[in-house]
Amino acid sequence: MRRFLAILVFIGLSFIAFAQTVEVQHLSERRTLVRTDGGSGVFLLPVQESSPEASIKVLADTDLWQTINVRLATDKVDYFVPLDRGQWKTKSVLLDITSARRDRRRDICWKEMKYSGSFELPAPEPFRPAYHFAPSFGWMNDPNGMVYKDGLWHLFFQYNPYGNIWGNMTWGHAVSRDLTHWEQWENAILPNELGSVFSGSAVVDENNTAGFGKGAIVAMYTSAGTTQTQSIAWSTDGGKTFNIYGKNPVIVADIRDFRDPKVFWDKGSNQWKVVLAAGQEVQFWASDNLRDWEYESSFGKGFGCHGGVWECPDFFELDGKWVLIVNINPGGPFGGSATQYFIGEYDGKQFICDDAPETTRWMDYGKDHYATVTWSGAPDGRRVAIAWMSNWQYANVIPTKGFRSANSVPRDLKLLSRPDGPVLVSSPSPEVEALRGKAKAARLSSKPVKLFPEPRGTYEIVLEFVPPKKGVVGFTLNNGQGEKVLMSYDPSAKTFSMDRKASGDVAFSNDFPAETVAPTLPGKRVSLRLLVDNSSIEVFGDDFCMTNLVFPSTPFNTITATGAKVQATIYPLNP
Ligand code: FRU
Repeated sequence: MRRFLAILVFIGLSFIAFAQTVEVQHLSERRTLVRTDGGSGVFLLPVQESSPEASIKVLADTDLWQTINVRLATDKVDYFVPLDRGQWKTKSVLLDITSARRDRRRDICWKEMKYSGSFELPAPEPFRPAYHFAPSFGWMNDPNGMVYKDGLWHLFFQYNPYGNIWGNMTWGHAVSRDLTHWEQWENAILPNELGSVFSGSAVVDENNTAGFGKGAIVAMYTSAGTTQTQSIAWSTDGGKTFNIYGKNPVIVADIRDFRDPKVFWDKGSNQWKVVLAAGQEVQFWASDNLRDWEYESSFGKGFGCHGGVWECPDFFELDGKWVLIVNINPGGPFGGSATQYFIGEYDGKQFICDDAPETTRWMDYGKDHYATVTWSGAPDGRRVAIAWMSNWQYANVIPTKGFRSANSVPRDLKLLSRPDGPVLVSSPSPEVEALRGKAKAARLSSKPVKLFPEPRGTYEIVLEFVPPKKGVVGFTLNNGQGEKVLMSYDPSAKTFSMDRKASGDVAFSNDFPAETVAPTLPGKRVSLRLLVDNSSIEVFGDDFCMTNLVFPSTPFNTITATGAKVQATIYPLNP
C-alpha cells in the first residue's frame, strides 16, 4: 500500500498524517487523537508489554463505543493487536488516547499503528498447547458461561483482546463438538458503561422464563465498575451475538468483592438460583425469571480455607449430594490460587455442609488449577469441569509469546466413597481418549525408556504398578538437557508428589519452582494417567489429580521408574 508522510505544524499542536487513512494529533504531553477514515482493513495497535498503559476511548463516528487500555509501544513493538471495530466496521474511528506517563510524543507507537489487509495470528510457538484450549492471541483467565446447547459445548472466558497481560475484561468465546477441538468465535460480551465483564455463567432458558425467547442462552456476569454488580445478557442465535439487558444490574450489594455468579435451575423449588462470591462467603439468591432476584442465604463464614479472596463458586447435585466449589486466591496449598470444595445438602434455600468447619478439601493438588467451574446442561447427566491452568502468582509472566494461558483438559466429576466420607474425583473426559494414537507398552526401570523416536510434546502415559510394602516408587521425565520432572508415589505416607524445580524455564517467578503433594489411598494396584502437553502435565490417580505447568527447552522424551515393577502404556496424543 502506498504511504506518504506529511508533517504539518499547527499553533500549539503538532499534527502528523502518516498515511492517507491515519492522522495523529498530539493535543498535549499526555493526550493524542488518532483519526482513521474507516478503511476496509484491520487497524493494528503496536504493543510493548513493558510500556505503561494508555487509555484509549474508541469513538465510531462520534459515538463512544469502548474504552480500552493498551500498552502502546514506547521503543520496541512486541506484537500488534487488532482494534475490534465491532458493528461499526466501515465508520471512521477516532481514538482519544490518554497516557499516564508524561511525554509520549516520541514513542514509536504513533508511527507503527496502521491499517493492514488482515491480522496475522501469532506464529506457532513451542509452549502453545496442542489439545488444551488457549486463545488464538491475547490474554485469558477464568473459563466463563459454560453451557451445552444443540451439540455445542460453549466456552466463554475472561479475555483481553488487547494484550497478553490481564486487562480489558471481555467474554471471549469458543465452541467445540468434542471438548478437545475448539473454534474461537467473535468476542461475546464487551465492557460497557457499567464496567468490564468479569466472570459468570450461562443457562439455556428452555421455558422462556425471562421472556427473551424460548431456548435463549442467558448469561449472568459481574459488571466490574466502581462497584461489582451482576448483569445479564442473552442470545437467541445460539450464542453468536448477545444483547445486553436494559435494566442491568440485576443484583447489587454493598460488598467490595461481590462477583462470579453461577446460575442453576433448582428442580426442588422450581426456581432459578444463583450462587456468587461475596467477600469471605458465598450467597444464594433466587428468581423466577432470571431478571428479578431475591437474597436467600449465605455459606462459608468459618468453613474451609480463608487464606485469600473467595471467587468463582459453582454448585451442583452429584451422586446424591450437593457439591459447592469455591476457588480461592491466594491461600492455595502450594501458594497462590487453588480450588476448594465442600460436600453437603441443599434444602432449596441453604447449603448445609457435611464437614466440620475446619476441614478443607482441595479439588486438585497442583499449582495450576484455578477458577474451576462446570458446564450447565451437559448431556447424559454428566458434570464436566474445566479449570484455568495457571496461578495468579505468575500468570502474567509465563514465558509464552503470542498468547497467555490455557485451560485444563475437560474433566468428568464423580463422588467416590471413602472411609471418612465421599471425595470429589476428576477424571479426563472420555473425549480425551479419542486423541490417543498407537499404544506402545514398556516395562520401566532406572534405564531411560525413549517415549517416541522423535521428541514430541503431546502424549499420555498410563502407569500401573503394585505399591510396594516399603519404599517409594519414583518416576522421572527427562529431556536429555538436564531438565526433568520428578514424581513419586509413597504408599506409606499415602502421597503422590511432583517436583518441577528443574523442569526447564522456572526463573520467571520465584513462586514457580515447586513440589506439589497430593494425598492418596493406595489400592491393591495403582493406576496413574499422565497427560502431557507442550507446557503442562496433568496427573490423574484413582482419588486425586494434580495439574502443573512446565516450560522445558525441548519436550521430555524419556521416562524412568524405580521402586516397583511399573508397566507403562505410552500413547501419542494427536489433536
Ligand atoms: C478469578 C477472578 C474473578 C474475576 C475475574 C476477573 O480469577 O479474579 O473473581 O471475576 O478473575 O478477570
